Amino acid sequence: MKMLPDSVRIVEVGARDGLQNLPTPAAPEIRAQLVDLLSQSGLQHIEAGSFVSSNHVPQMAGSDQVFQVIKRQSDVVYTALTPNLRGMEDALKSGADEAAVFASASEGFSQKNINCSIAESLKRFEPVMELARQNNMPVRGYVSCIISCPYDGATTPEQVAEVTKALYQMGCYEVSLGDTVGTGTPLQIKKVLEACCRKVPMAHLAAHYHNTYGQALANIYASLEEGLAVVDSAVAGLGGCPYAPGASGNVATEDVLYLMTGLNIKTGVQMEKLLEAAAFICQQLGIGSRSNTGLALKEQSKRTIKQDRI
Ligand code: HMG
Ligand code: MG
Repeated sequence: MKMLPDSVRIVEVGARDGLQNLPTPAAPEIRAQLVDLLSQSGLQHIEAGSFVSSNHVPQMAGSDQVFQVIKRQSDVVYTALTPNLRGMEDALKSGADEAAVFASASEGFSQKNINCSIAESLKRFEPVMELARQNNMPVRGYVSCIISCPYDGATTPEQVAEVTKALYQMGCYEVSLGDTVGTGTPLQIKKVLEACCRKVPMAHLAAHYHNTYGQALANIYASLEEGLAVVDSAVAGLGGCPYAPGASGNVATEDVLYLMTGLNIKTGVQMEKLLEAAAFICQQLGIGSRSNTGLALKEQSKRTIKQDRI
């Protein structure tokens, strides 16, 4: 058996990726309550909102209010998604601890998502990185469409590695690799990681896998085998991108935690608190959880309650 990491950092993206594609936007107060519940679970890295154009993504309007009202835990890093200089200025004003810029490995998605080519987006990030540096703000990077693009079809590992390298070289301390559409399978993911880690050390890469085809956990396991130790996930398996039609939610944080616990990999996250956060947001949105672990544990607790009554 290949060596797996001793610990994994989970980056919770439920309050951003999880809520950015809802048919009816969640109010900033609800989003802030979700962030607060998540921050009590032991998660140390939470993406709390995004400073993007509300013409494009109305669901993330009011992210400044989210940052204003959250009850900050000193050991939690609160991140904001920033597509351009205006976004970074807003993130700084809001007191976000960290920003995240996002590029695509495919031209089609870059155009639809941020209205510019890959090269233009990288150019656009230069002043964003400069402003971050002046303010000692760490910046994470995302590369979308690492396996396939809803507009251009298959992506090659070399395309992904080039954009990953560009983000790392401009100062992103970590680059999260997004299987935005969720079509990837373990062998494909391994090939992408092999190409990327020829350009960027594995310790600076993260996995951001959507679960459209139910492959996200298998892909995470394959990534751990390659030495990756940072995983993005969303509570209750929420998520999706307005510009990735057909893509479903992120891998559920509860499922990632169950996998890590089974592998004796430390995360510092408590399942019970995650389930509380999941129950809260699912109830607020009037939807069911997409986490298999969440559903199984809920059924188990119902059975236990029934047995207690007998
Ligand atoms: P644009 O239309 O090319 O920009 O959009 P513009 O500079 O021409 O501005 C258009 C309007 O937006 C103007 O307002 C600007 O002021 C405003 P108007 O004059 O029309 O009233 N504007 C802004 N407002 C607030 N915050 C800003 C901002 N910038 C301009 N930062 C832009 C370009 C990038 C802004 C736009 O395309 C955009 O906001 N895109 C965001 C798309 C998005 O959020 N997608 C989802 C997140 S990415 C994702 O989910 C993938 C990920 O999860 C990884 C994975 O799964 O692969 C990260
Ligand atoms: Mg995503």
